[in-house]
Amino acid sequence: MTVIRADLLERLAARQRERAAAQLLRRLHVLDVDVATGGAWVVDDGHRLLDFASNDYLGLARHPALIEALGRAARVVGVGAGAAHLLGGHRDEHARLEHGLAQWLGRERVLLFSTGYMANLGVLAGLLARGDLCVQDRLNHASLIDGAQLAGCTLRRYRHADVEGAARQLDAQPQAAALLASDGVFSMDGDIAPLRELAALCRAQAALCMIDDAHGLGVLGADGGGSLAWAGLGQREVPVLMGTLGKALGTFGAFVAGSAELIDGLVQQARSFIYTTALPPALAAATCVAIDLARGDAERRSTLAARIEQFRAGARARGLAVLASPTAIQPLRVGSSEAALGAAARLREAGFHVPAVRPPTVPRDQARLRVTLSALHTQAQVEQLLDTLRKVLA
Ligand SMILES: Cc1ncc(COP(=O)(O)O)c(C=O)c1O
Repeated sequence: MTVIRADLLERLAARQRERAAAQLLRRLHVLDVDVATGGAWVVDDGHRLLDFASNDYLGLARHPALIEALGRAARVVGVGAGAAHLLGGHRDEHARLEHGLAQWLGRERVLLFSTGYMANLGVLAGLLARGDLCVQDRLNHASLIDGAQLAGCTLRRYRHADVEGAARQLDAQPQAAALLASDGVFSMDGDIAPLRELAALCRAQAALCMIDDAHGLGVLGADGGGSLAWAGLGQREVPVLMGTLGKALGTFGAFVAGSAELIDGLVQQARSFIYTTALPPALAAATCVAIDLARGDAERRSTLAARIEQFRAGARARGLAVLASPTAIQPLRVGSSEAALGAAARLREAGFHVPAVRPPTVPRDQARLRVTLSALHTQAQVEQLLDTLRKVLA
């Protein structure tokens, strides 16, 4: 028998060539933190750049109290957990972090995951099966889409923020067990989902409501409790809350919060929780400190809010078309991938790191500069960025 197979590596190379021709090649690039100055600076091949790309919204990633907590815990418990949570890797630091998150967010229980990507895979594949329905916003994060695909359920996507569209998807399959999932704050647009309307729809349709609050946690709500706290929604209205620790909290990892029933079930069913090494416990210890800072230090949040306000007002005054985002994510749509790459390169020459985001991360012809703001940015730095953006996008 003659074997005729496609060469997988050749196919990969062909796709690579296609992406390069379409200006869509992704590039891994080393950026160092600027040890000398701290703040929002990075170093690119010896050149200092002001970083407007980080999700470290509150400026906690290099906070001395977190670094100290990480080191102190590592000296006691070591660096790695050494095992999965269920096989001896679950430490007191993890338990304390789960408790702290549950208390902060007003949820009965919390389960830690190693990353947000894994949390979304674990929840969706743990809850949904073939024949079930998963309804999602078209702009949801890739990990939510991938989770539904992994579950093997029917995935229906509605137009961005279109609650009526979501209702139609649920109406079309009234017999199927259903889960509706949405980003709380959309990662590439920065707008907040119609949270109250989605929760009410889920209640009316007996569908489980899940919110991924990767970009809302720490930023929105009076004590940083996130988009659900901001919208006044609790565990009853939104039974599944997913959050990440690597953004406003400045560390790494993720969690799911909800009822004891949900968490106990995920411990049994969420394969991305079960079959992986537990998060380093020292990171959990550092994250406990991050929660205290994010919760208690309203000044960081109000500095961030002031920078967001300043950026939006300044962009409008300069005729820059910002999207309708009230959060730290302030994208500027450029259109073609080529134009976005060109603008990012000119910004780099002028001393700013602002990434170009291209398809398939965003829809075709909606390539953009994704500006993210942080409490670390000064008023003057935001003003300099605005002036440079005006020149670059003119
Ligand atoms: C909305 C959203 N969900 C999930 C994730 C994944 O989280 P993590 O980076 O912890 O895997 C991200 C970003 O990374 C995100 O933007």
